[in-house]
Amino acid sequence: MRLLVTGGAGFIGTNFLRYALARDEVERLVTVDLLTYAGNYANLNDLEADPRFRFVRADIADREAMTALVDAEAIDTLVNCAAETHVDRSIADHWPFVTTNVDGTLVLLEAVRGRAGFRRFLQVSTDEVFGSIPAGRATEDWPSRPSSPYAASKAAADGFVQAYATTYGLPAVITRSSNNYGPYQFPEKLIPLFVTNALDGQPLPLYGDGLNERDWIHVEDHCAALWHVLGLPATRGEVFNVSAGREVPNRAVTDLILRLLDRPPSLVRYVADRPGHDRRYALDASRLRKTGWEPRRGFEEGLAATVAWYREHRPWWEAVKSGAYRDYYETMYGDRLRDSSAAPRS
Ligand SMILES: NC(=O)c1ccc[n+]([C@@H]2O[C@H](COP(=O)([O-])OP(=O)(O)OC[C@H]3O[C@@H](n4cnc5c(N)ncnc54)[C@H](O)[C@@H]3O)[C@@H](O)[C@H]2O)c1
Repeated sequence: MRLLVTGGAGFIGTNFLRYALARDEVERLVTVDLLTYAGNYANLNDLEADPRFRFVRADIADREAMTALVDAEAIDTLVNCAAETHVDRSIADHWPFVTTNVDGTLVLLEAVRGRAGFRRFLQVSTDEVFGSIPAGRATEDWPSRPSSPYAASKAAADGFVQAYATTYGLPAVITRSSNNYGPYQFPEKLIPLFVTNALDGQPLPLYGDGLNERDWIHVEDHCAALWHVLGLPATRGEVFNVSAGREVPNRAVTDLILRLLDRPPSLVRYVADRPGHDRRYALDASRLRKTGWEPRRGFEEGLAATVAWYREHRPWWEAVKSGAYRDYYETMYGDRLRDSSAAPRS
């Protein structure tokens, strides 16, 4: 396999590179990453020793660069992890989401379309394209009803992947995973934000009444699912949901983190909710399970291991939380925290 993984310096990409490099089938592994605020080259330092591995700093929306790279490296498999991924940032400014998530995906599709020997395009998508799921679990056939500009950009990209499979016969497949947690996640997302704030004795800004539910999956289980999907015969733009089937309200996640770190509940501050905040995500992953994939990590055990990772990797997240992150945090949470309360908001 001559594999191109985009977004390898981000959270899931970094974990997936490690997963793939542990496999003998991988003859070449190239990762492209623009190193935006969310990309961290330090994540890849230890991979450079592997002669199969190459890092390229480039924009997936750069047509010439992507076509040249795919040609030069004779890429036969592409896993598209690169994206703008934070819902709150997409509410503040949606344009980078359109450029990277939609245009970038199109550029990659074009770069591999019609390539002799090209085997698989895997689009790493999200359950957020379904919007809030009031009850039950969304199967792959549920309609897309994205609530945020982030989710809308991912749904648009999924549509192009399916169009390329149908119109041009590009061998493509889409995974839609639920919320991931684990090592190397940028501390703007709930779990690493709360773990690192709690480690520093800082307030944990919990949106709304704290009862929004997310369907958590450990990133290792997601990476195993991506690898598994690459080996399936599906090539017609099929969608596979990826979920461990465990929804947990944000307030319960917060309580668990505080307990694991032995920090007081008084650190929790209820803050003004995110506009358009999806109440609940819940996926039905039985289509993927029937093909032989199973998640391995339970939420409590996986969260304890994740908390331990952040405790042991303080220099990693302290470096990430310095500089521009401070301005971001003040913009996002400054006023909210000044206007926060110790009790849930109704
Ligand atoms: N994190 C989750 O819970 C989750 C759940 C389901 C799906 N996903 C999807 O998985 C993928 C990876 O998510 P993540 O959490 O690792 O995101 P992340 O924000 O941690 O990493 C994204 C990476 O993409 C890179 N990037 C951004 N724009 C780029 C561009 N124009 N060109 C090249 N590189 C660029 C960034 O530098 C970063 O390294 C995304 O497509 C996301 O939609 C994430």
